Amino acid sequence: MPDITLARAPRLLALDQLLSRRSVGPLQEPAPDGADLDLILDAGLRAPDHGRLRPWRFVVIRGEARLVFGEKLGEAAAVRDPATAATLAERYRAWVRRTPMLIAVGAVVRPGNIPEIEQLLAAGAAAMNMLNALHMLGYGGMWVTGPNTYDPGVNRLLGFESPSRLVGFLTAGTPVATNAPISARPDRAAHVTEWTPG
Ligand SMILES: Cc1cc2nc3c(=O)[nH]c(=O)nc-3n(C[C@H](O)[C@H](O)[C@H](O)COP(=O)(O)O)c2cc1C
Repeated sequence: MPDITLARAPRLLALDQLLSRRSVGPLQEPAPDGADLDLILDAGLRAPDHGRLRPWRFVVIRGEARLVFGEKLGEAAAVRDPATAATLAERYRAWVRRTPMLIAVGAVVRPGNIPEIEQLLAAGAAAMNMLNALHMLGYGGMWVTGPNTYDPGVNRLLGFESPSRLVGFLTAGTPVATNAPISARPDRAAHVTEWTPG
């Protein structure tokens, strides 16, 4: 007879990690790399996907390249709206400087039987898996979107030509605060019902 209690313990520990995940704003070096980064990316590739299209694509942006990427975001902002470009360029410059790593997450969308939304949801699920993996390995990160995610020029720069598209950026690094409180979660009753016939 297997020891069910012992077998269950590591699973509960893993679940505890999922339940304690939170988004982390302020990050510092180091960003995950090597085997840790591989685990995080592999977690993304564990996401479900209808039709085995494998639509997920991850673009790692780090080191000096992220500073260049920040400049490109400034240029894209100038194309969108010259009036606000200078402010945004400075904001993006500062953002990439204080963010040890970005992982752009998108979907290669293939027209066909599988609805586009399902391919985008698969990319979203991959993003979520990577956020969880970051947390479980002791790193922190946050899923952000904003105008860059929806800008065709930024999408193209990262290899996403319509209908393929980004679903957002994950920031990744080491949390500055080690004891940040876990934000309260909504009341289960406000989000869950049980359907009954009739
Ligand atoms: C698809 C998506 C896009 C998001 N975009 C942004 C964003 O651009 N800026 C931002 O501050 N938070 C954004 N958030 C919210 C944060 O990722 C995070 O969920 C929120 O700060 C709550 O923190 P928590 O994950 O600890 O609950 C986004 C979340 C999702 C799911």
